[in-house]
Amino acid sequence: MLLINLTLLAISTVIPAANAFTGRASWDSLGTTPCPQACTPTDFRVALPVDLFPNGEKCCRQVLVQYQDRNVEVTFTDLFLAGAHSFNISLSHQAFAELSPPEVGSISPVDWFFLSR
Ligand SMILES: *[C@@H]1O[C@H](CO)[C@@H](O)[C@H](O)[C@H]1NC(C)=O
Repeated sequence: MLLINLTLLAISTVIPAANAFTGRASWDSLGTTPCPQACTPTDFRVALPVDLFPNGEKCCRQVLVQYQDRNVEVTFTDLFLAGAHSFNISLSHQAFAELSPPEVGSISPVDWFFLSR
């Protein structure tokens, strides 16, 4: 709990902690569907829980994902069907590799939030 609080404190200079979500990140693309609108193509992508953005709200926005002392900036390009009713996310292989060796499969807890630009 202390660790989580410290993490939120560290990012609070970027954006209010209330806007950050905490969940598990995996990198398989199972259970994802593309956003309604096409985003600028990138290898650094994230799928976010579909129930949070049922109509693709915020699609194509930039998201910062933090794990331990690492972070990666990704584009919200897909809706994560299998992540509904959680704050779990699915990263592209390239994005996941910035946070952890892909062999690990999934990592937790990760914090993620939208960047304001
Ligand atoms: C979210 O991840 C947690 C593990 O961190 C898992 O227990 C839970 O089942 C996951 N939820 C969904 C909807 O996948």
